[in-house]
Amino acid sequence: MSDNKMKLQILFFASFVLVEGHMPEHYLETRVTAYDNFVCPPDLVLRPCQCTTVPDIPTVHCGGIRSLKTVHINLRAWFQDDPIPYLKFVDAQFEGLPSRAFVSVNVTRLQIRDSNLKWIAPDAFAGMRSLLLLTLHNVALFNLPYESLSQLPSLVSLRLPGNKLHRVSHSDLGEAFKLKYLSLAGNKLTHVDRGSFPIILVTLSLSNNCIRSLNKSIRYLVNLEWLFLNDNRLLRLEGELDGLHSLKQLNLAKNSIGSLGRSFRDLKQVQELYLQYNAIHELGTSLHNLSQLRNLNLSMNRLGILSYTDFDGLTSLEGLDLSGNRLTEINGAFNSLTNLRRLDLSKNRLRHFSFDEISPLTKLTILDLCDNRLHRFSPLPAMSTLPVERVFLARNKLSSLGQFLRHFTVLEAVDISFNHLRILKAEDFTMSPRIDYVSVAGNPLLCDEEQMLVYHELDTANIEVDGRPTCDDVGYSAACKNRSFSTKGLSNSVKVRVINWKK
Ligand SMILES: *[C@@H]1O[C@H](CO)[C@@H](O)[C@H](O)[C@H]1NC(C)=O
Ligand SMILES: *[C@@H]1O[C@H](CO)[C@@H](O)[C@H](O)[C@H]1NC(C)=O
Ligand SMILES: *[C@@H]1O[C@H](CO)[C@@H](O)[C@H](O)[C@H]1NC(C)=O
Ligand SMILES: *[C@@H]1O[C@H](CO)[C@@H](O)[C@H](O)[C@H]1NC(C)=O
Ligand SMILES: *[C@@H]1O[C@H](CO)[C@@H](O)[C@H](O)[C@H]1NC(C)=O
Repeated sequence: MSDNKMKLQILFFASFVLVEGHMPEHYLETRVTAYDNFVCPPDLVLRPCQCTTVPDIPTVHCGGIRSLKTVHINLRAWFQDDPIPYLKFVDAQFEGLPSRAFVSVNVTRLQIRDSNLKWIAPDAFAGMRSLLLLTLHNVALFNLPYESLSQLPSLVSLRLPGNKLHRVSHSDLGEAFKLKYLSLAGNKLTHVDRGSFPIILVTLSLSNNCIRSLNKSIRYLVNLEWLFLNDNRLLRLEGELDGLHSLKQLNLAKNSIGSLGRSFRDLKQVQELYLQYNAIHELGTSLHNLSQLRNLNLSMNRLGILSYTDFDGLTSLEGLDLSGNRLTEINGAFNSLTNLRRLDLSKNRLRHFSFDEISPLTKLTILDLCDNRLHRFSPLPAMSTLPVERVFLARNKLSSLGQFLRHFTVLEAVDISFNHLRILKAEDFTMSPRIDYVSVAGNPLLCDEEQMLVYHELDTANIEVDGRPTCDDVGYSAACKNRSFSTKGLSNSVKVRVINWKK
């Protein structure tokens, strides 16, 4: 694959992926100690555990351990009362966490994962006064071990992903006074009681559960900045997000939300909003207060017709993904998006498109209109230009590009593959001095002498034309390559030879 082609395929919106794993693990810890002076004990001392200081926080890893006791004796012998920055158990073979399980060592961060813990004693974590971070990942928990958790006065970050929790109750985290980061992702939650979450929470993940209703449980978490609710069964949000005045990142992807109403009215700080894979059919005024929003993903919803005011107020928006909807009309909806850089309209039902729709987008650099039903571009009298660098028009029904591409004077790459184009015009591409790649595969392109000249001109301009017809019949390959190629004496039947492409 050529570099240029690769360039075209570079992830369209590589900008930001809002997944929980993106949260830097130690982001929220209040005490960030430098571990420059930390020295790992020799492997022999810790066996069967191992110690490493890379990448950042020194960590003691213990895999497949049968008895916590032996580990403790070894750790105690080396560390005594010195804190162990991070202690991790994976595939633990012990059955449960007994009373005061870690009392003889001073641990700052503790993780147990991929283990089948049958029980956790109510005072399992007793004495862990300095524990900042606790992760119990995929350890078969059925209930939040609230009594044990109440003994962790310094806990800032609690992660219990991949367990079998089905309910969060009012009292479960009642004593987690310092908790800022909570992940209950990948459980079986159906019930969340009102008042379950500490008001000081900054990050909350409830993604990948079975929640139908938020039950007013997250309203007015005024410190909340990151909220992950993706992969649930949420139907409506009305009132549920009230008072989330600090929220910056909100992931609601893969739910069953049909309409947004006024549920976002307080989200004035939100910068990233993921709504893909829902059932949203209209926007109304729902987005109007999101003046800080930078990226909006509405991919895979049910939007059919946009209205002129849908995106009013989104003056900071840089990326808008509307792919996979049912759009037939845009109606000038993008008029207020003066900061928009990336617009994805692919996989919709647009039959025609006018440059007018995007002409206010003076910062637009990427435009994707692939997989629509475009026949033509409405002609325009005035020729304003935009700084668009890449245009994707593949898999439409275009038989002409009209003047469309000539609005983009810094174009670098364009994909017009799998359309109904019979001829190419050099001016469509050579308008931009920066263009170096055009994909034309899958078009019924003519192979006559005029077109040969077009290809020749594109070659001369160093533009790679990917998928061009080979024109190898009737001495054409030689003719194609012949720079002093003359048009005299060629029959018409040869001129209109059409190369048919199979999709
Ligand atoms: C929007 O969501 C779709 C579906 O999950 C994804 O393929 C696409 O990359 C997302 N767009 C952005 C801008 O992240
Ligand atoms: C753990 O070590 C830290 C740092 O030396 C100390 O401040 C803290 O009191 C110790 N915690 C316990 C429970 O011994
Ligand atoms: C909603 O919260 C109340 C308590 O505030 C609780 O009784 C009820 O079961 C919860 N319902 C759901 C669906 O979470
Ligand atoms: C925007 O915020 C104001 C005041 O905070 C509120 O009254 C209004 O209803 C909100 N508008 C929308 C469309 O949510
Ligand atoms: C190229 O064209 C010239 C004159 O038009 C002709 O003499 C020459 O044989 C051609 N070369 C090929 C390879 O067709």
